[in-house]
Amino acid sequence: MAVNRVRKAVFPVGGLGTRFLPATKAMPKEMLPVVDRPLIQYAVDEAIEAGIEQMIFVTGRGKSAIEDHFDIAYELETTMTARGKSLDLLRQTRLTPGAVAYVRQQEPLGLGHAVWCARDIVGDEPFAVLLADDFMVGTPGCLKQMVDAYMQLGGNMICAQEVPDDQTHMYGVITPGVRDGALTEVKGLVEKPPRGTAPSNLSVIGRYILQPEVIRVLETQGKGAGGEIQLTDAMAQLIGDQPFHGLTFAGTRYDCGDKTGYVNANIAVALARADIGPSVRAFVVDLLR
Ligand code: UTP
Repeated sequence: MAVNRVRKAVFPVGGLGTRFLPATKAMPKEMLPVVDRPLIQYAVDEAIEAGIEQMIFVTGRGKSAIEDHFDIAYELETTMTARGKSLDLLRQTRLTPGAVAYVRQQEPLGLGHAVWCARDIVGDEPFAVLLADDFMVGTPGCLKQMVDAYMQLGGNMICAQEVPDDQTHMYGVITPGVRDGALTEVKGLVEKPPRGTAPSNLSVIGRYILQPEVIRVLETQGKGAGGEIQLTDAMAQLIGDQPFHGLTFAGTRYDCGDKTGYVNANIAVALARADIGPSVRAFVVDLLR
């Protein structure tokens, strides 16, 4: 079986980020920093590590900071050069011209709608989707682990994680088939099942490798859970027609769309850093005493 390489990644960044108000009133949620890098930067770096060549951002109003972040910052570069400061950190955030595209979602009608908005840029090839607020820490990165598994199996590959039973109503949930190590065959998918009805506690996390057929399903996809056009509902239509697997990622996930998860990510990353780790650790130990 010939498996087509994944060259493109879609970053849906059109959501409202209401759980982070007022921080996200005038700033995209994806620009919230974990220590000193915005969430979207970590996601883009993860995609580059996985061999992705084209980044497609599905944006909305008030998201232009994301475009600026990956662009040249002339004023900063000129001023910092004049002051003899290193431009290394700034330059790491530039994306190659032509390797980045922006498409506007206009209305946040749901994740499925956001992906559908990218259809002409994705074209007729497999693509990845990364939700930057699911912050994944692992070596290799989450998407690289998924691409490696995908190259063996083809089809569709989603990141899967077991969540506590009392949280399944907040996720897309998998009906699991055969399990083989970190891989689980996906037999069914349901978005945000009402409490007590989830088929398992194996849930969909914000990393996907999808075949282009999902976009054709989204074309006519009605609204689902929460009145939104759900990617999960469209993916569910592909089960049975194409291979479909969940990969349990080896690493740690922080739900940075949630305040606790976001604070936890900052603490964990700060503690692991060589530069600030020791002083943050001393502070935290002192604080907890
Ligand atoms: P969330 O469910 O976290 O929604 O979306 P949200 O609107 O960003 O945040 P809250 O719940 O109001 O705080 C998951 C991902 O899907 C994107 C979001 O930007 C986020 O990365 N998304 C969601 C879109 O791009 N468009 C949409 O219409 C909905």
